[in-house]
Amino acid sequence: MAASGEPRRQCQEEVAAVVVVGSCMTDLVSLTSRLPKTGETIHGHKFFIGFGGKGANQCVQAAKLGAKTSMVCKVGKDSFGNDYIENFKQNGISTEFTYQTKDAATGAASIIVNDEGQNIIVIVAGANLLLNTEDLKEAASVISQAKVMICQLEITPATSLEALTMARSNGVKTLFNPAPAIADLDPQFYSLSDVFCCNESEAETLTGLTVDNPEEAGKAATVFLARGCKVVIITLGDKGCVLLSQTEPVPKHIPTEKVKAVDTTGAGDSFVGALAFYMAYYPNLSLEEMLRRSNFIAAISVQAAGTQSSYPYKKDLPPTLF
Ligand SMILES: Nc1ncnc2c1ncn2[C@@H]1O[C@H](COP(=O)(O)OP(=O)(O)O)[C@@H](O)[C@H]1O
Ligand SMILES: *[C@@H]1O[C@H](CO)[C@@H](O)[C@H](O)[C@H]1NC(C)=O
Ligand SMILES: *[C@@H]1O[C@H](CO)[C@@H](O)[C@H](O)[C@H]1NC(C)=O
Repeated sequence: MAASGEPRRQCQEEVAAVVVVGSCMTDLVSLTSRLPKTGETIHGHKFFIGFGGKGANQCVQAAKLGAKTSMVCKVGKDSFGNDYIENFKQNGISTEFTYQTKDAATGAASIIVNDEGQNIIVIVAGANLLLNTEDLKEAASVISQAKVMICQLEITPATSLEALTMARSNGVKTLFNPAPAIADLDPQFYSLSDVFCCNESEAETLTGLTVDNPEEAGKAATVFLARGCKVVIITLGDKGCVLLSQTEPVPKHIPTEKVKAVDTTGAGDSFVGALAFYMAYYPNLSLEEMLRRSNFIAAISVQAAGTQSSYPYKKDLPPTLF
């Protein structure tokens, strides 16, 4: 504890407004002219390591917008884990509850991308799956003091459910991103979601409906609302998103502007991170306005290569967004 004449201010500064209980993954990316066949060895022309994982991506976007954030997650006691913790620190994210374990490796995604942009990906969630309810208990004070908590499905579902339950019982707004989606999602996820936000293919998996345009997204959103979510948002790539809420149960399409997309990887995470930022820091904005701004921020992220590296900082955005 630093001695200070302003203990109150210090204390306020330490509290994270946006807490993510979720995943981090190291992306190991090889660029090749074509994808290898079974048993084949081919030479690629470029290799790079990136920071990914839906939870971490969302946290980084919220932090880049100026949110006080804390990342509750688990990495391995290995070099990738050490590097990831350093990445969080570089982004000003609290790592107080970023655990390191000897029992599994840091989550990794081995990605091969060909010249046409097609890819094959193997994800080994590793340490992410070892984040457990004991860890959440240790992090209880940071979760209960947040304004918004975000969860996804790249960690053990029981851990996500427990985190959502803890947040809900402390009056913390829950933002749930059911990604990657599983068809038989525990129904409690719906009732514990203040805001439920997914993309088109996730909405299809979870409802069995076809979701390809704003109208179909509105129908899928109606299903999620009936399952107990308070607010439903379905993102539609370059078509923006659709909003439906218990207070205004008529689907509303919020389009976005046309941009030249370079790399759409992680656009959904930029969107969710931005939305969490607005929910935490501008709670009086209408949801529609929050989504217009989140669309704008995610559209910037698709105009540059990379995932977290493509997410904009507050200083690079129009002041009218803040
Ligand atoms: N080509 C694009 N042009 C403009 N905005 C985009 C584009 N692709 C994605 N976005 C923005 O990112 C959000 C999430 O994109 P989407 O493709 O639906 O999610 P995911 O990344 O999960 O596939 C969209 O709602 C939109 O705001
Ligand atoms: C939706 O997100 C999933 C990851 O959960 C991704 O695999 C899929 O490509 C995305 N779908 C669309 C339509 O963007
Ligand atoms: C939001 O509105 C309420 C009630 O009008 C007000 O008391 C509060 O200060 C506002 N909050 C912010 C962050 O502007």
